[in-house]
Amino acid sequence: MYKDLENKVVVITGASTGLGKAMAERFGKEKARVVLNYLKDDSDYQEIIQTIEAAGGKAVAIKGDVTKEEDVKKLMEYAVEKFGTIDVMINNAGIENEVPSEKLTLEDWQKVIDVNLTGMFLASREAISYMLEHNIKGNVINMSSVHDRIPWPHFVHYAASKGGVKMMTETLALEYAPKGIRVNNISPGAIDTPINAEKFNDPKATQEVIDLIPMGYIGKPEQIAACAVWLASEESSYVTGMTLYADGGMTKYPGFQAGKG
Ligand code: NAI
Repeated sequence: MYKDLENKVVVITGASTGLGKAMAERFGKEKARVVLNYLKDDSDYQEIIQTIEAAGGKAVAIKGDVTKEEDVKKLMEYAVEKFGTIDVMINNAGIENEVPSEKLTLEDWQKVIDVNLTGMFLASREAISYMLEHNIKGNVINMSSVHDRIPWPHFVHYAASKGGVKMMTETLALEYAPKGIRVNNISPGAIDTPINAEKFNDPKATQEVIDLIPMGYIGKPEQIAACAVWLASEESSYVTGMTLYADGGMTKYPGFQAGKG
């Protein structure tokens, strides 16, 4: 538990599923006040709000598309209207789809870049601008991926977007460090969430992924949420511009494990 997170206002995009949901619920356990952004009407955000409030936190939700500037502005306004401030911005919303690069349309390329990179920029800009205006020594946490570092054929748009997120994080960290605003990146490996549902419903495909993970298992969303609360807390107060790889060792060249290389 991180005592300093109590009552902190935490805005999370794509918060109704997967990692966003796990982070929202974990911040709820820290008794933070959570603002959930969700994209789809069928999302179970109400259940997440109940879980957060049962744990002693507070939560509200607002629909919005992170690629739309006006929706992102509304998200910040809503956070301030409901909870009075913004302390932590978590840019989590992201998408991927598999297409061989020679067949990737401009539309598909643009869609992934818009959500994964431009959406994260827009929310970072709005949150940082609020923090500067109100002298808040806040935190921005971006959800990148091991594919900000590991090339990924058939996912060139995804890998390019995540590589962009990593460098955006480092640049913003440098730019706003003098103001006490920290900007960090979490790069998960393979985690059991809806984005991977199709793959993880297939035992052969799942095993192929596990073979790439030195620790030998698919990660749990709660393990990523644990990284997010640490980065948002005072326990990491001297950490900025960092990429935290939470990947069971996936980025450590598993092909070179003893007996393999
Ligand atoms: P997910 O598919 O459950 O979550 C993505 C969320 O983003 C969904 O709730 C979706 O509705 C939302 N979203 C998509 N487009 C949006 C838009 N335009 N505006 C607002 N929300 C939008 O998958 P997961 O795994 O929870 O993904 C969360 C983040 O973690 C993504 O950025 C993903 O790239 C990243 N990630 C996930 C990994 C994994 O293995 N699960 C590994 C590495 C990174």
